[in-house]
This record gives sequence, structure tokens and C-alpha cells, in this order.
Amino acid sequence: MKLCKSTLRSLPAAAALLAASASAFAAGGLDVAHLGANNTLVRITGDAPCLLLPVQDNVEDARINVLVDGKIAETIHVRLAKTATDFTVPYDLTPYAGKNVVLEIVENHGHQSADESRADVCWNDMKLADGFTYVDQETKYRPLFHHAPQYGWMNDPNGMFYKDGKWHLYYQYNPYGSKWQNMSWGHSVSDDLIRWEHLPVAFRPDGLGSIFSGSCVVDHNNTAGFGNGAVVALYTSAGTSQMQSMAASTDGGLTFSTFGGNPIITLDSEARDPNLFWNEATGEWNLYLAHALEHEMLFFTSPDLKTWTLQSSFGKGIACQDGVWECPDLFELPVDGSKGKKWVLLCNINPGAPFGGSATQYFIGDWDGHTFTADTDASGVIPTKWLDFGKDHYATVSWSDAPDGRRTIIGWMSNWQYANDVPTLQYRSANTLPREAFIFRAPDNQLYAGSRPSPELDKLRAALTEKAGSQKLSATPATFTLPADNDGICEINVAFQAKKGSDVKLTLFNNAGEEVIITYNAADHTVAMDRTKSGLTDFSADFPAVTVGPTFEKDGKISLRLFIDRSSIELFSNGGRTAMTNLVFPTQPYTGLRIASDGNSARLNDLKIYSLSAE
Ligand code: FRU
Repeated sequence: MKLCKSTLRSLPAAAALLAASASAFAAGGLDVAHLGANNTLVRITGDAPCLLLPVQDNVEDARINVLVDGKIAETIHVRLAKTATDFTVPYDLTPYAGKNVVLEIVENHGHQSADESRADVCWNDMKLADGFTYVDQETKYRPLFHHAPQYGWMNDPNGMFYKDGKWHLYYQYNPYGSKWQNMSWGHSVSDDLIRWEHLPVAFRPDGLGSIFSGSCVVDHNNTAGFGNGAVVALYTSAGTSQMQSMAASTDGGLTFSTFGGNPIITLDSEARDPNLFWNEATGEWNLYLAHALEHEMLFFTSPDLKTWTLQSSFGKGIACQDGVWECPDLFELPVDGSKGKKWVLLCNINPGAPFGGSATQYFIGDWDGHTFTADTDASGVIPTKWLDFGKDHYATVSWSDAPDGRRTIIGWMSNWQYANDVPTLQYRSANTLPREAFIFRAPDNQLYAGSRPSPELDKLRAALTEKAGSQKLSATPATFTLPADNDGICEINVAFQAKKGSDVKLTLFNNAGEEVIITYNAADHTVAMDRTKSGLTDFSADFPAVTVGPTFEKDGKISLRLFIDRSSIELFSNGGRTAMTNLVFPTQPYTGLRIASDGNSARLNDLKIYSLSAE
């Protein structure tokens, strides 16, 4: 059987379409019949493993019923090109080899006649092919060392688990376009959390609906009966309503069989994004589910992953109640500097974030296997706490079964306010860097969750390109160069000591006059990132922003670690006590860094800039 194999090629953007059509079938093999103004049949008469679908990002989705021997095998939604093809995506025909395949297409271009429909470029650019040659059209903004799909849309990270030396990462994926649609689980795997291999889509929409977020566990004790060490996925089936479903894999997460008894949890209002772990202390599975519109998390227990009992809920009326509650996670961590342990409950919310749109809220407290009890502050109130103080950090959850007691987390590096509009075309969204969660006690005597870059990131360092020792900072900036072959990628480490009244300002700049300003405010003990002049910002009124977060110190001693990966800046201060993640779209890479202080009593203690390589 022929396979719709995907190969990777790196060609300049302009060559992309040519490359796709070079592998196309000369004979055509497609019969196109226009049935009216907006309805078209495409019959596949050629024998090929792949159909290349031409996509135009800024037109409406067409609905495509894929008819196999006259029956609807699936329905997909694709922005079929009207006036120009931005990129092509492959549709895999191998499951239908030897059968009659007809695409019944309803376009949404508002045509008034069949002739208008005939003029759409998609009919000419749709081709049968021997395989899909992936050509990267996004070299300007595509990250080097962040996980991102090759093509198509991505949102939340899903189903992360670690097994046999591999970090598995699934994600909310549209394989047929770069805006949210056709929710499936894409799949990538890595040995080191940096270099990701892209694997075939793990779940596609089925009769119960599209596949929303969820999680995976390794069933070491075979509680569900799929076998010792089976990987079990729980996810939301999003049809007319939302239900929770289950699937199992006996090949380490490569392929899954959906459970015949789905759905396994139904409720009478919107609930989604199940996440779970095996509770060693109680000998049960513990599951948490976002009761999205009720602004709460629901907790269930089960002996076998299939039958679930509701135990409790947490959240109603507490902390940030705007928007919907989504993507929970719950884990225990040691408290830095003490022998104690505490539980962290992640409750992603959208909208309602401190700087608009999406963000990760969390609570610190206790978990007894049935009920979560949040810590209060000195005034007896359960405070609102945020895991990251940027605009582009959402749906953060952790890996199950991570080695060495690690609690490794990753988030979606975008914001629902503008994720569909960011200035990339062939793919949209990357994930944040992997981070290690920890709990620390801050000067206000409260416990907080921090996140430090995962140790694997240290290995990215290629060369130390700038170094500076102790020096006084003044209003005349000290200027440093980012690596010459920077290409928008580097790591910056800066340590300084500031006194009250001596704010420290770091400015990343390029030759186009674009800049990102990072300011430490010594009176407030906060750090801010201003991306209002960072490059392309006008694709959304919500994009230009200044984000601010506390630095959780009182002595003005600050160490900043910055990772710049073409279109993102992640800031970690004082070992990850503060994390701040913001997208940027400079028209040219930032080439320099200025550091200044206007108060006349701040000192730079140390500066190191590294070029990075993921080779
Ligand atoms: C969060 C979310 C989830 C849902 C998924 C759908 O970003 O809204 O609650 O499962 O995205 O793609």
C-alpha cells in the first residue's frame, strides 16, 4: 500500500508551492463537478496516497464531507483557497485505498453562480501526490528550540507522559489549516524536551465530536484491563455537548483504540479537559475536570479509569471568576527550604488574565484524595496567584511519570485574544519552554509556585558571545551585542543590584528602531516587559502591551535569564520565582541590548550572552 509520507525540505518561501506541485500527479486524477454557486463534488479517480488541499488563510472554511463508497467517512473544515493559495496541507487517502472517494464540498465564499465558484484557485491547486513534501515557509518567526507543529494550528498541550526515555507531547491540532478547527490530537516525541519528532495525528474527531484537551497516564498496575503499562488517554469529546471519553494504547502512545463504552463521564453542563493521576496513598485514580462555565474544578475518583465517582468541587466564588475555567492540573511539590510539601492546583482561565485574555491561575493548598483545601492569606482570603506574568502562557499542565521526581510543565505560548491572527501563516503557535515547577516562600510569608527553565535548556548554549563584570549603571546605557549569527535566537543572563529609586532598564533593539523594554522597578519590586514597539503589533488591538509581575524579593538583587527564540521572549527572574512569557514579531532580529539606570545607585554584577544551537 502506498503511504502518504511526509518528508521535510527547507526551501525559501516562494518555492513552497512549486515544491508541493512538483510531487503532484501529472495526470490529474480529480474530476471536479460544480453543482451550483457554492456546492462542488471532487471525485478522486487517480490512485494516490495523498491529496494536497490548497489553503488560503483569510477566507471562510469550506465544509468537506469525505464520502467513501457513498458513506460519510468524516467531515473536515478547510479554508479552500479562493484567490491565492498560501500553503498546501496533505489529506491522507491511504485508509480508503481501492475505494470510491468523493469530496462533497460546500464553500462559504458567497458565490452567486457556478461560474464564480469555478474561478476559485483551489480547483486548480488541489492535486493528488505521492507524498507530502513539507517545505518550511516560516523561517522568520518559526522558533528554533520551542515545540511547534510543522504546519497547521496548535493550542493546548495535551496528554503528556514520560515512558521509556521518551517525553510524549500531544496537542490540540488542526491538521488542515492555521486557525482553530477540526480539533484532533497532534503528537510529538522527544528525548530531551528540545528536539521534537513529529508523529502522525493520534486522535481525530469521531462520532462523539471533536477531540478537546485531556491527558494520558501509564496504567502500571493494569487497573483498566488494557494491559500492564498501557497508556490510557482521557479527553473531552466535544460534540453538541461536552463529554469525557477514553482511549488506550498498547504501543507506547503511538496508536490508540477508543473505548467502546464512551463517553465515560457525562454532566449536564459544559465540562472539559480531564486530568488525572494514580494516588498511591489512597489506591485510587484521582481526576479533575474543568466545570468551565461554573468557574470551578470537579474532583472524581475511580478504581479502574472507567467508572468515576464525583467527590467534590473547588472554585465557585473564589479568586478570578471571569471567563471560563479550563485545563486543570494537581500535583504535590516540596516547599523550597523546608521539609514540608504542598499541593498546587492549576486552573487555567480565559478571559480574565491580568493583562487580558488567557492565563494560568493557581492555588496552593492540601489534597486528601477527595477534597482540595486552598491556603488563605493573612486576612483569611484565598488569593489569586498567577504562574506567569506575560500575555502568552496558557493551558499549562505537567508531564505524568516524569523521571527523578521532576514536575515538568509546559504551556501554550499564545493568548485566545489574538492566537488566530498572529503574523505566521503555515503554522500558528508554539509551546513555551519546558519548565520545572517549585514552591517557595516569598517575603510576604506566603507560598507561591515558581517555574525554572528545565535543565535540558543549558545544553543549547553554543558560545559565550558577550561577557561583562561588575560596573556601575547610569543613565548612559551600557550597550552589548547579541550574537552576530543571532538570527533572533539567544540567551541572556544579567545580574544586577538596584537600590530604591534606581530602576534598571534593559532594552532589546534592532536596526529598524523596534525595541522591547524590560524594567525593574526598585520601589515596587516588580519587573515589566513593554512590547508596544516590538515590531508587528497591529494585527490585534490586544497585542501591544506592558506586562508586569512581582519579583518576590526585597533587597533589589535581581538575576534575569532571558530566552529569545525569534518570535518569543521568556523571562525568568531570580531562578524562576517570576516567569514572564511574551510573543514578539520584530521585522528584523533584535541585535543589541542596552542597560541603563537613572537613579545612579545600581550596579551590574554580571552579564553573559550565549548563542544557542539545537544541532
Ligand atoms: C483551552 C481550551 C480547552 C479545550 C480546548 C479546545 O484553550 O478551550 O478548554 O479543551 O481549548 O481546543
